[in-house]
Amino acid sequence: MTMDALERYVREMSTPQGEALSWVERQSWLRTSHGRQVSGPEVGALLRQFVQLLRPRQVLEIGTFSGYSTLWMASALPEGGRIDTLEINDEMEDLIRAGFARAGLADRIRLHIGDALDILPALTGPYELVFIDADKRDYVAYYQAVFDLVAPGGLIVADNVLWDGKVCAEEPPRDQQTRGILAFNDLVAGDTRVDNFILPLRDGLNIIRKK
Ligand SMILES: C[S@@+](CC[C@H](N)C(=O)[O-])C[C@H]1O[C@@H](n2cnc3c(N)ncnc32)[C@H](O)[C@@H]1O
Repeated sequence: MTMDALERYVREMSTPQGEALSWVERQSWLRTSHGRQVSGPEVGALLRQFVQLLRPRQVLEIGTFSGYSTLWMASALPEGGRIDTLEINDEMEDLIRAGFARAGLADRIRLHIGDALDILPALTGPYELVFIDADKRDYVAYYQAVFDLVAPGGLIVADNVLWDGKVCAEEPPRDQQTRGILAFNDLVAGDTRVDNFILPLRDGLNIIRKK
């Protein structure tokens, strides 16, 4: 059986993502040159499950892109719950806001356009769930900037931590993105304030629970 057939089976046997998410996923490919940045339904459904389990008052996302993962999380928020989502690329704003409106979830989401490292110091926690999915060079900086904003028992989930397998390359990595991911995974593995494990789903998720 090919991976494509397995992937299709997994999707068919899981709750469908619904019209608005399908629309955002499609528009991400049609309207941008980097549609593969959307995290996909498996990561989206996992994030939604975390929201359903944690019932957070506040969620933080670093790296909105088209708003696909934002909508998965927003769809499961309890009454009064809010998401702050941070995106540096202002060209994405129209598509992001159109998706939020289409899903009927705009009132639960605060979109911040700008560099996360400038915006984070002005945010007030506590956040019970943080999803890090922006510039791989800056994962350590995002982690350090958000840590005190995370509630005890809260989760930090970081995407792409296997970086297409480059984290295990035999040659020492020269590119800054691989180095950024390696430094981040090392930092988390040695951080006694958290428990973590790497889930090898898609490009790898570091699931980090603050003690
Ligand atoms: C992989 S995409 C996010 C995908 C999205 N979370 C999803 O799953 O659909 C990464 C996004 O992070 C944004 N980004 C990169 N550096 C950033 C920064 N310093 N602050 C805020 N956003 C940033 C990029 O512009 C890009 O849209």
